[in-house]
Order: sequence, then structure tokens, then C-alpha cells
Amino acid sequence: MRIFKIITIDGPASSGKTTISRLLAKKLNYLLLESGSLYRLVTYLLLSTSDLKNYLKDSQKLLKFLEDMFKEIEIKLLSEGTFIYWKERLIKEELRSKDVENVVSKVAALKEVRDFLTNFMRKLAENKSIVAEGRDMGSVVFPYADLKIFLTASDEVRARRRFKEKLNKESNCKYEEVLENIKFRDELDSKRAVAPLTVPDSAYVIDTSYLTPEQVLNEILKLIEK
Ligand code: CDP
Repeated sequence: MRIFKIITIDGPASSGKTTISRLLAKKLNYLLLESGSLYRLVTYLLLSTSDLKNYLKDSQKLLKFLEDMFKEIEIKLLSEGTFIYWKERLIKEELRSKDVENVVSKVAALKEVRDFLTNFMRKLAENKSIVAEGRDMGSVVFPYADLKIFLTASDEVRARRRFKEKLNKESNCKYEEVLENIKFRDELDSKRAVAPLTVPDSAYVIDTSYLTPEQVLNEILKLIEK
């Protein structure tokens, strides 16, 4: 009989979650669940309607919207990442737009959205070995995970990482704006009432500020061996 395993990697923006969880999923040949892309997807879908404000005010309407929209959504979990198709079209760059970036933490603070996505992700992970990456993977979504990791790094290191990444796409991108956005999202993510960003019980904390991705990966592999 095959034993399915779950490894969670949580932490704030640009703490290294995406890079490390990709390396780890590849190394172990596990599927990669990037939960942030689902929060970004819901934000993108809500922004695509002309009725955003009403959805945010009316929880019944919001739930109905999520149920209807997700009938048209297909998620493919691979060890390379989480691929999202809407009406058979791959949605990727859209999820990283400035508009989505500015609103996602507000949408992610809504209880209806969190409950809906928590159930959705648990079903998605059934009978699979996965690396689950996000903000509340070890604390709320998969509290019985086999291994929990929490990555951190200083605000400035994280902002520099995100700035470098963004400069490739937006040449007029400003470091100060990136730093502000990161601090703003950290604040909303850590202070929200439902599933705030927190170090899960029994998680191993790794400060990635001065480590290369390979060094972080090796630390995690050592924990797995233990
Ligand atoms: O790549 P980055 O860490 O900046 O963001 P992400 O993982 O794509 O997540 C985008 C936003 O979704 C975060 O700022 C959180 O507000 C929200 N999120 C969440 O609330 N819970 C999760 N498990 C994952 C993401």
C-alpha cells in the first residue's frame, strides 16, 4: 500500500516559499499545491465582475459566486506547480497583476473565501503526496501534515528579492513600492481574524535571509531524514 504524505511550507511574501517548495516537490516527486495562486484566482475572478463591492458585502452571494465560478475552473497539480485553467485557458500572468496584488490580502481575509478554498484544497490533496505552500497550510488546512516548515526573512531581504523578480517584467517598478506592498500584505495577513499568518505548532522555522535555496533545501532534506 502506498503511503501519502503532506509537507507544508508557510511564511510571508518572498520568504522563499515558492522557490523552496518547487525544489522540494521536484526532489521528492511530490505534487505542488501553491495555495496563494488560488487566493489570487478568486481575487482575479472577483475583479473581473462589475459587482465586486456587492459580493464583498453579501456572504450568500459570494458563496454562490465561488461555487458557480469553480465549475468552470480546472486545477492541475504537478511537481512543477499548480496550473489553473478557466474555460480551458491557462491563467497565469493575470494572477500576478498589480490589481490582483493590491486586493488579494483583503479577499483572503474573508471567511467565506477561506472556508471555501480550505475545503477545496483538502479535496484536491486527497490520496496524493503533496508539498503545500502558503500562509495557513500547517496551521489550518493540513494540521496533520507529516512535516511543517515555516520560512522567514527580513523585510528588506524579501523586498529586494521581489523587486529583482518584478524588474524583469516592469522596468519602472520602484523598490519602495514593493517594500510597502510586502509590509501592507504582511500586516493584513498576520492580523486577520480568520487563519492569520502564524508559525504552526510543531513547525521548523528557517530564516532564509542569508541562505541560498540549495542550503534551505538541504536543511529540509535533513529534517525529512530525521
Ligand atoms: O508569492 P507571495 O507569497 O507574495 O503571495 P502568494 O503566495 O501568491 O499569496 C498571495 C496572497 O494570498 C497572500 O498575500 C495572502 O494574502 C493570501 N494567501 C493566504 O491568505 N493564505 C494562503 N494559504 C496563501 C495565500
